[in-house]
Amino acid sequence: MTTADVDLTKFLTQERHNIHLIGVAGSGMSGIAGLLLQLGHHVSGSDKLDTLETDRLERLGLKFYHQHRAAEARDAELVIYSSAIKKDNPILKSAQESGKRTVRRAEALAAIMSAKRGILVVGMHGKTTTSAMAAHVLREGGLHPSHYVGAEIPILGTNAHWDARGEYFVAEGDESDGTIALFHPEHALVLNIEEEHLDFYADLAAIEKVFRQLLAQTTGKVFYCADEPNATRICRSSDRVICYGLSDEADYRATDIELRNFSSAFWVYRGKERLGEAVLNVPGEHNVRNALGVIALATELGVPFEKIAKSLTKFQHARRRFEIKYDSPRFLLVDDYGHHPTEIKATLKTARSVGRTRVLTMFQPHRYSRTKALRKEFGHAFDQADRVVITDVYGSNESPMPGVTGQLIVDEIAAHGHCGVSYQPRLEWVHRDVGNLLEPGDLVLSLGAGNIHEQLSILAADLVIAEKLKEIVGESGDVRLYEPLSKHTTLRVGGPAQFWVEPRNETALSELIRFCRRDNLPLFVIGRGSNLLVRDGGIRGVVVHPSGGDFDKIDIHGNEMTAGVGAKLKEIAYAARAADLGGLEWMEGIPGAVGGALRMNAGAMGAQTFEKVVRIRYLDGEGNPHDKDRHELEVHYRHFPLLEQNFAVSATFRGSPAPREQIESRLHESQEKRRTTQPIAKSAGCIFKNPEKCPAGKLVDELGLKNSSVGKARVSEVHGNFIVNDGGATATDMLELIDRIKQAARSKRGIELETEVQIVGEPI
Ligand code: EPU
Repeated sequence: MTTADVDLTKFLTQERHNIHLIGVAGSGMSGIAGLLLQLGHHVSGSDKLDTLETDRLERLGLKFYHQHRAAEARDAELVIYSSAIKKDNPILKSAQESGKRTVRRAEALAAIMSAKRGILVVGMHGKTTTSAMAAHVLREGGLHPSHYVGAEIPILGTNAHWDARGEYFVAEGDESDGTIALFHPEHALVLNIEEEHLDFYADLAAIEKVFRQLLAQTTGKVFYCADEPNATRICRSSDRVICYGLSDEADYRATDIELRNFSSAFWVYRGKERLGEAVLNVPGEHNVRNALGVIALATELGVPFEKIAKSLTKFQHARRRFEIKYDSPRFLLVDDYGHHPTEIKATLKTARSVGRTRVLTMFQPHRYSRTKALRKEFGHAFDQADRVVITDVYGSNESPMPGVTGQLIVDEIAAHGHCGVSYQPRLEWVHRDVGNLLEPGDLVLSLGAGNIHEQLSILAADLVIAEKLKEIVGESGDVRLYEPLSKHTTLRVGGPAQFWVEPRNETALSELIRFCRRDNLPLFVIGRGSNLLVRDGGIRGVVVHPSGGDFDKIDIHGNEMTAGVGAKLKEIAYAARAADLGGLEWMEGIPGAVGGALRMNAGAMGAQTFEKVVRIRYLDGEGNPHDKDRHELEVHYRHFPLLEQNFAVSATFRGSPAPREQIESRLHESQEKRRTTQPIAKSAGCIFKNPEKCPAGKLVDELGLKNSSVGKARVSEVHGNFIVNDGGATATDMLELIDRIKQAARSKRGIELETEVQIVGEPI
C-alpha cells in the first residue's frame, strides 16, 4: 500500500471531513455514502435520479442535490465518483481543476476496508448473494462484521454497514472496471472467472491479470470454487488456498444434494470429516456452491458449523435474485438480475426444476458492448425456456452502437433453433406480450440488470386482478390478459384489453359488474365487435365478452324467440325459418350479435331491431336484473340509451307465422342485397349513420372518395359507407380516413356526418 492509500484510510476512518459523492444514487455509491455517514462525515451527493435509497440516506444526514453543479461540492475536501460518471461532469472537473483530491468509488471502498481485516468476494456471478450470505453468517456467528454489498439485502438491513465492534469487513468486489486490483484484503473468496465486461477488458488474459494481482495482494487465505476451471487455474498456485465445490478434490465438499423448489439440502464435508447437514433457503445448485464458499470461510474464521448451518437456513435472498413476485397454484412470477449467458442458464435451470409446466421468459439485454460481444452465447442461453420475449438493450451508461439491438439476440436464439422467441422493442409492452401467452401452470421469469423487473411487477399486479376475475367466472368462463382486440373486432384493428373476460351466465356477469364497481375498474362490454373501432392503445380495465353458455341460447316459444346477448342475429334469422316465423329475415344480413343489435338498434332492409323486440332483460349498474316490455323503452334511430349504463342479458323477439317459401325468398333477397352492394373484405359495417338528406354511402360516393385510403384503411369501392382493412391497417389509419370523409362532407355538402360505428379505447 502506498502512503497515499494509508492517508486515505486514516482520512476516511479516523477523521471527520466534508465529502461529496457524484452519482450517489447508484447501488454501489449509496453504500459508500452510508458507510461515510456512519463514520461521522458530513456527506453530500449529487445524482439526476433520487431513489428510495437516497431518501433513506437523506434521513441519515446526506445532503442530496438533483443536479451536478460545481457549487454543491465547494466545501468538500474529497470527491468520490462513480465509474458511470463522465470526465466532463462539472463537479468532477471543477474539483480536479482546483486540485482537490478525487477518488473512484472502489478506491474509497478499498481504503475504508483497509482499516479492518478485509474479506473480498469476487467473481463474475453470484457476488452479491455470496457476500451478503458471508456477512450474514459472520454476523450470526458473533463476529460483528462490517459489510458492503451491491444491492439492498433485506436480511442485512442495508447494503452497507460499519460496525465499530468487529474486526472483519466483508465486501463485494466489482471486477467490471479493473478496480479490484486496488484491494489488499486479508482473505479473498473467488467464485468464478469468465469472459465478461469486454467493454473494459481486451480478453480473458486481461481479466486474469487483474485477478492475479488481487491474489498477490491478499495476505491471508484464498478461497476458490474447485468446480470453476478458470478460478481453479488462476488461484491454485497461490499460497494458502482452500477450495470448495462439488468435486471430490475440494477441501470443503457438498454431497447428497437435494434440490427442492426454493431451497436445497446437502451434507458438508471438510476433507473426510463430515461437518453436518445444511439447508439453504435460496434455490439452485449454484447457490449450493456459493454457500460452500461461505461455509469454508466462516469455518476457517472459527465459527462452529452448527451456527453456520443455522444462519444459512435463515438466509434470505438479495432482491432481484430469483425473487418471487407472485405465487399461486396457477402461476409463478419470478424476477432475476441475471444478465450474462451463464447466469441466465443457471437461473433457467433453477426455474425448470421448480416443477411448473412451462417457463416463459422476458429478457432485457444489458449494455451494448456485452450484447455485441456475447451474442453467440446469448443465442444458446435460453434453451430451457419455452417462450422468450426480448426487448431492447438497457444501455446503462453506454451510448447506442449501430446494429446492436435486442433483435440481434432474437436472431441468434432463432438461428440456434429456438421456435418460441420474439422481439418487443417497446419495453412498456413486454408485460403484455408475455401476459397474453399465459396459461395455468406457467412460470414467468424476468431477466436483466436494467429495469425489466418493472414489467414483471405490472404483470403481477394485473394477475392478482385476473385471478379474482377467474374466480368470478368459474371453471367454464375464461379470463385472458392483454387480449388483442384486433382478434375480436370484424375490422381487425385495435390494441389489447387489459382484462378480457368471458362469463357464461347471468350470475357471473352480475358478479363482474359488482366487482368492477367495488374496485373502481372500468367495465366495457363487447359482443361480436362488428360495429366497433378500438383505438390502437386498447381498452384499460375489464372488457367483458358474454358468450357461450346461456348467452348463446335461442329458445322458441309460440311466435316468440328469446335469445341471449351472445347469439348471432344470423342464427336468429335461421332459427325463425326453422320455426316458420317470418319478419326476422333481415337479421341475416347483420354481422353482429343480439347485444350489439340492441345497443345500437341495428337495422337492414328497411327494418330495425326494436320493431321486433317484445321485451328485454338487463342488469343495472349494481348488477341487479330487470325485465322491461317494449312500450317501457325509449328507442331512437341507431340509438338505445338504456344500454349506455346497463348491461343486456337477453331479448325476446316476435315473429309472425309465414309460409316457408316466403321466408326463404326474403332471406335470399337479403343475401343478394348484401352480396351485390356490400364488400366482403374486413370492415365494421356502415361507418356513418345515414344523414336525413342523403344515405351516407351515396354521399361518400358522390364526393368521389371511394377507394381513397390512409395506410391500409380504404373506402370500399363497392359501398361508400364501408371502410375496409386491406391487411395490417391501424385504428389511427381508420380514424384519419373517417376524419377526411367528414371534412369533405362538411366543406363540400354542408353535411355533418355522425359515426354509427362505436369508437372506443385509448390512443397509443
Ligand atoms: N349508394 C350509392 N353509392 C354507394 C352506396 C350506396 O349510391 O357507394 C346508394 C344506394 O344505391 C342506395 C342508397 O345509397 O340507393 C342506400 O344504400 P343501401 O341500400 O346500401 O343502404 P344503406 O343505407 O347504405 C343500410 C344500413 C346497412 C344495411 C343496409 C341493407 C345504415 C347506416 N346502414 O345501408 O347496415 O346492411 O341498409 O339494408 O342504416 C350497418 O348498420 O352496419 C349496415 C351495413
